[in-house]
Amino acid sequence: MLAKKHILLIVGGGIAAFKCLDLVRRLREHGARVTPVLTTAGSQFVTPLSLSALSAAKIYQDLFDLTDEAEMGHIELSRAADLIVVAPATADLMAKMAGGHADDLATTLLLATDKPVLIAPAMNVRMWEHPATQRNLKTLQADDVRHVGPNEGDMACGEYGSGRMAEVPEIIAAIDKALSDGPLKGKHVLVTSGPTHEPIDPVRYIANRSSGAQGTAIAKALSDLGADVTFVTGPADVPPPPGVRVIKVQTAREMLNAVKDASRADAAVFAAAVADWHVINAGESKIKKDGSGLPKLEFGENPDILAAVSQMKKARPELVVGFAAETDDLIAHATAKRDRKGCDWIVANDVSPATGIMGGTENAVTLITPDGAESWPRMGKDQVAALLAKRIAEAIA
Ligand code: CTP
Repeated sequence: MLAKKHILLIVGGGIAAFKCLDLVRRLREHGARVTPVLTTAGSQFVTPLSLSALSAAKIYQDLFDLTDEAEMGHIELSRAADLIVVAPATADLMAKMAGGHADDLATTLLLATDKPVLIAPAMNVRMWEHPATQRNLKTLQADDVRHVGPNEGDMACGEYGSGRMAEVPEIIAAIDKALSDGPLKGKHVLVTSGPTHEPIDPVRYIANRSSGAQGTAIAKALSDLGADVTFVTGPADVPPPPGVRVIKVQTAREMLNAVKDASRADAAVFAAAVADWHVINAGESKIKKDGSGLPKLEFGENPDILAAVSQMKKARPELVVGFAAETDDLIAHATAKRDRKGCDWIVANDVSPATGIMGGTENAVTLITPDGAESWPRMGKDQVAALLAKRIAEAIA
């Protein structure tokens, strides 16, 4: 996919800029051509010489460089590439993009371009979580700017959290996807995945055995077909796939909010094993064995996220797919669940312990649609995901 593609790489001013040198090498290994644009702040972290040597191309730095204007105007430069990648996208650069500023070469190119734009944000965790940055991110998403990362982890500033720039293979996967022409290109699909954790007190919670493997595989398969995937995941055992927008949640109520926040989707797949109940009288501090008897937990019902989306009056996704985890009377229970919740399809699976499906690598599913029940042979969760993604593509593309 990357062969013969032309990437305009805007290198922003953050410590993660050093990863861009490797990014340029890997892109060229894949056969892509890279034209680097180095911001003034970016040049504090990588030198024009190293970028130029690795890209084997001229580096653009200054808006008012007359030589550049003679060779290639900034408007032309902004449109010559197949894709513009901003890495690292600092909080300042994101704010300027969201505000439509054009006070240097990088921001002018970003405002003048008619090509797709992908950003790889990188910043301190507090800066990333700041409402202003999150607001700017939403604005950029509404403007069709894609983003990859940031990841969670140790940061150069000594803090821990979300804000590390995505790793080079993840950025390559996102670039590949942004340039792909799969059947779901331009479609937005929401996927929920993993278990939810419902707190009993700050240290204890109620959970289930879902590993998140099936939902993760579905998100990846949809993304491989070119979809823009928003992946809302509870605390899963497996990491989210690269190239998707990840929203991490703990509880069912948080998952509902995240789903509401996600912009309008063309299709939605609810693979999460959502807890049906939460503890109403969860302790604010650790519940102690203080001799006054056993704790009495009171339960409240969790919102049914699948039913809420299926029954949306406005902006309901064209296709809503639910899962049904059953231990007996699979088809009858799953068909009744489809009717009750109002979704279009149900992927039903038998999760009796003897099947080893929950937490395992294989799945045996029956797809329930308005046309009836279709049982698929037992296969790997990746294969189930690929088949389901193909069917979704046929239904909405
Ligand atoms: N689901 C949901 N929100 C909930 C419960 C379930 O979105 N609060 C979704 C799941 O993601 C799945 C489908 O509903 O797509 C069915 O989940 P399942 O646990 O099989 O069904 P329940 O609604 O919990 O029904 P029951 O426990 O009676 O089988």
